[in-house]
Amino acid sequence: MTKVLYITAHPHDHTQSYSMAVGKTFVETYKELNPNDEIIHIDLYKENIPYIDADVFNGWGKLRSGQAFEELTVDEKAKVSRLNELSEQFISADKYVFVTPLWNFSFPPVMKAYLDSVAVAGKTFKYTEQGPVGLLTDKKALHIQARGGFYSEGPAAQMEMGHRYLDVMMQFFGVPSLEGLFVEGHNAMPDKAQEIKENAIARAKDLAQTF
Ligand SMILES: Cc1cc2nc3c(=O)[nH]c(=O)nc-3n(C[C@H](O)[C@H](O)[C@H](O)COP(=O)(O)O)c2cc1C
Repeated sequence: MTKVLYITAHPHDHTQSYSMAVGKTFVETYKELNPNDEIIHIDLYKENIPYIDADVFNGWGKLRSGQAFEELTVDEKAKVSRLNELSEQFISADKYVFVTPLWNFSFPPVMKAYLDSVAVAGKTFKYTEQGPVGLLTDKKALHIQARGGFYSEGPAAQMEMGHRYLDVMMQFFGVPSLEGLFVEGHNAMPDKAQEIKENAIARAKDLAQTF
């Protein structure tokens, strides 16, 4: 059975967020077309996504030096286990749909924390004599992102670091392609906002046919 992770990094739902509205249309259309697929929603604002902090480094250090898991502190155990759970879930999936808003030229910080949790040598990539090699070569990924201005082309394109960062990470993990579905320019052109949103929703329905 195909497993799809629907990973949303937004504090709002579809009623207030353009990204979430487009994401909802995409995932509902996809579900209708692929009723047997398993779709798991990971709401990064509700899930426990640990930072890589001193507890995590201490926990990893103890395990590396041969100490038993039981010897970790309560916090070290909880964080190390949760990070492990997140990376295992990530590699067990076949497709990823990420939904993020553009905030200050990037995505919300919990998305970075999530990507840190899945960037694990031996799971999503491995080190070789030729350098790191991605291990997720049979996956597919889509990024839905709303941005108030225009970044797909033109002078601001180089300033966008959310989609571009995610693209780098997907390449690093060996994921063959990351499609981008952007709702953009609605703050720059408020009189066209409704049209921009409707076009993105129509594109989401189309993309769901082929994803
Ligand atoms: C904290 C914050 C930072 C933002 N930074 C940018 C930005 O760097 N560039 C931009 O074009 N729009 C920016 N915006 C506008 C959002 O990208 C825009 O409102 C978009 O629709 C947000 O996605 P959403 O509708 O899913 O919430 C920002 C909005 C917020 C709340």
